[in-house]
This record gives sequence, C-alpha cells and structure tokens, in this order.
Amino acid sequence: MYSAIFERKSIRKYDQTPLPDSELASIQAEFSTLNPLLSDLNWKIEIVKAASVRNFLGGNAPYYLSFYSEEDRLSYENAGFVLQQLDLLLHLRGYGRCWMGAARPKTAAEEDLPFSVALAFGNPAEPLTRTAAQFKRKKLDAITDCADPRFEAVRLAPSARNIQPWFFSCREGKILVYRSQSSLLMRLAMPTLSRVDIGIALCHLWLASRRVNLPFNFFVEEGAPAKDGFEYVGTVSDQS
Ligand SMILES: Cc1cc2nc3c(=O)[nH]c(=O)nc-3n(C[C@H](O)[C@H](O)[C@H](O)COP(=O)(O)O)c2cc1C
Repeated sequence: MYSAIFERKSIRKYDQTPLPDSELASIQAEFSTLNPLLSDLNWKIEIVKAASVRNFLGGNAPYYLSFYSEEDRLSYENAGFVLQQLDLLLHLRGYGRCWMGAARPKTAAEEDLPFSVALAFGNPAEPLTRTAAQFKRKKLDAITDCADPRFEAVRLAPSARNIQPWFFSCREGKILVYRSQSSLLMRLAMPTLSRVDIGIALCHLWLASRRVNLPFNFFVEEGAPAKDGFEYVGTVSDQS
C-alpha cells in the first residue's frame, strides 16, 4: 500500500460497465485484511451500487464503499483510517476511487450501524497515477514540526476540499495529532469530514511507520498540550 501513496489521485471519470460478481467478491475479501485505528469499535463496510446512493455533488462512479460505524469520539477518524487502506489497495488493483463527502446510501445498513462516509470506485476512464510533482499539497513545515521522513507520506494524504486540516507536533518522543479549527467551512459544514481527513493522514503515518519497522500506537492523552486554532485528537507513540 505504501507505494500507492506517492502516485494515487482521486478519479472522477469512470467506465460504467458493471464489474463481474467475482471482482466485487474479491474486493469484499479485502475487508477482513483491514486494520482499524481503534480495536474496540463496531464497524462495517458495504459495496453499494450507484443507483442506491444519493450523491448531492454528483459524480459518476458506478460503485461506492459505504462505511458504517457505532458512534464514538473517534469513529470518523477510524473510518478514514480504514477506508484509506481500501483507497490504496484498490488503486494498486487498477481501480479508480474518490472519497465522496456528499454521498450517502438511500437505505440504512442491515445492522443499523449509523452511516459515516463513502468512497466511490470503479474502472477508471482517466489515468490512474500522477508524479510526485503533480500533488498539490502544503509544504512539510506547515503540517509538522517533526524532523521525520515518515511525514512525506502524511503530507500527500488526500482530504476533503484538499484542506489538509492536520498538524503533527513532536514532543518527548511522541507525535501529538491536531485538527485545524480555523476554517469556518470546516467547523460548520464539514466537521465530520475533517475527522475523516485526520484518520486518512494517520493511515499514511501508520504505513510509513510499518515500512521502517516502527510500532504505531495511537491513544488519547489526558492533559495533552493545547495548540492555538487546533483541537487535540490523539497521540502516536513508537514505543512498543
Ligand atoms: C473526506 C473526503 C471527502 C471528499 N469529498 C469529495 C466529494 O464530495 N467530491 C469530490 O469530487 N471529491 C471529494 N474528495 C476528494 C478531494 O477533493 C481530494 O482528495 C483532494 O482534492 C486531494 O486530491 P487527490 O485525492 O487527487 O490527492 C473528498 C476527499 C475526502 C478525503
């Protein structure tokens, strides 16, 4: 998955030919390989056809991965962390994918877990990859004060409207994770999407840590230092 971080992009043009059932089944088989951010949360993913999804901003992907989760202080971060693994895995398998913040299934999931967020996918009708120079992202020092090569992968993470609402601060051997509160749009119109964004960035940090054999322990600390214009989300430690 790590290599996909450096070439993936959102795909917005799709081939409408339905995927064979065997392909959908093999995508579904990936679900059991995914790692959650939080181990004690109840969540599930469903493959939903576009006809069963309302997408308020349009989009022409033929399928959606619909994420449902029990509610928790960090359930949207967990959704971003888990579904971003599918964004990268499906990219490597040649599918186009695009996070869709304005899409939701027309009917509720069977077990009645609340819907969180969706990722559209299908066969792409545009190039799947791009070069590092084609990423439009903030500079490294705008997203972290850590001198740590793992943050290049974090810097390239996708986010709703490309806002990149994250800051990572290194203190006493730990990484403190913060979510920006500065954009009115983010606070009013998309408070849950910016939480999903944080989960996506944490997924990239986890993959970058795994690549250099560093443990990735995520937890919430009482009394973590505040940061102006940001909300503290949690802490990552590489101590096992
Ligand atoms: C949580 C989330 C919601 C998003 N919602 C939409 C959407 O509704 N429509 C859309 O076209 N793109 C959507 N995007 C895609 C972003 O615009 C895109 O990831 C960002 O501009 C960075 O571009 P890249 O994915 O090509 O790197 C969303 C992305 C995220 C992470």
